[in-house]
Amino acid sequence: MPKTPFYYYDLNLLDRTLKALKSAITDSSYHVHYAIKANAETRILKKIIDYGLGADCVSGNEIIKAIDSGFNPKDIVLAGVGKTDEELTLAIKNNIHSINCESIEELEVIDQVAKQNNSIAKIAFRLNPNVDAQTHRHITTGLSENKFGIPVADLGMALEEVSKYKNIMLTGVHFHIGSQILSLNPYAKLCYAVNDVLTFLDSKNIEIEHLNLGGGLGINYHEPDTNPIPNFEEYFKVFDKFLKPKPNQSVHFELGRSLVGQMGSLISKVLYVKVGKETKFAIIDAGMTDLIRPALYNSYHKIENISSDKEMESYKVVGPICESTDTFGEAVLPMTSRGDILQIRSAGAYGQVLSSNYNLRDRAESIYSDEWDLASILIGQKN
Ligand code: LLP
Repeated sequence: MPKTPFYYYDLNLLDRTLKALKSAITDSSYHVHYAIKANAETRILKKIIDYGLGADCVSGNEIIKAIDSGFNPKDIVLAGVGKTDEELTLAIKNNIHSINCESIEELEVIDQVAKQNNSIAKIAFRLNPNVDAQTHRHITTGLSENKFGIPVADLGMALEEVSKYKNIMLTGVHFHIGSQILSLNPYAKLCYAVNDVLTFLDSKNIEIEHLNLGGGLGINYHEPDTNPIPNFEEYFKVFDKFLKPKPNQSVHFELGRSLVGQMGSLISKVLYVKVGKETKFAIIDAGMTDLIRPALYNSYHKIENISSDKEMESYKVVGPICESTDTFGEAVLPMTSRGDILQIRSAGAYGQVLSSNYNLRDRAESIYSDEWDLASILIGQKN
């Protein structure tokens, strides 16, 4: 049995998810760039490459990782409110698909860096459409008071400004309204906002090659077994129906969580069951250093005891770290004792990538379903 805690990735579910994505895309002008920030494990990236997706990066190191893993630089986009000169240089030298420019102030720097490299930087304006994504306030990005993007109202000014720079070519517009979005209404609203932008660009006789609608499609954290794969068909149908791209414009998406969220679990061993006054604490060997989402966003992950089938009881599942937020939440589990194995579900996105070695703890390693299946993990045998 591998050393706990570890991340367990179900490659079969990843395959099925990517197949569902591909078959939901009926329009050949649609292109999906996987948001590497959700999970950057090499084996996962390689599988995503096999399905022909591009990459969405937010740092120079993500660009390097994407290229080293096999993504074609022409399918890579770069976003970020604070790109360094080194990161811009890397993007420009590799001639990536597009640098998503998040402020008017950034233009001057992009132009300078492109000039130093005798290149023309291809950029998209990341516009802030002021659409409420109806999600957790920490992962909402499309409201006008967010730090992200250029307010749509400033687009005229941004166009005037960009026309001054010789080493920049404006090729697209980019939007991203937030993450873990479960209602499709915000996406319909986004389409209307994008259509208005296209009309405005028309009125200024400005032609662009691509529209990037960002990512954000959510997953069902409560019912991972009945909803292992997000409804990509319904998602793309919203854009088919409401978005009005110009002929020859390509339409890009940056999905992260919806592709990898359900395929990953955090597997942890119970160290102690501590009986408090009113609460039974299951103290496990995974902590907020391995999965910070509950501590950071108070987010729910389904927890299962996969090694016991006794009668059900309530537990508070907590980690070993000296922080009171080091908790994974309340769970009703079969009677749990020291040595039992818990599976914390839906941890494939923003789990391992957000881990740290606070308290000088080791980082959880990755185990793949073609190396071990969970049943053999329980009996301690390798496939
Ligand atoms: N594009 C941009 C510009 C983004 O900022 C993000 C995510 C994505 C695409 C991908 O979004 P997705 O499809 O994965 O929702 N750590 C938080 C989520 C942060 C999302 C940041 N941006 C969490 O654990 O819920």
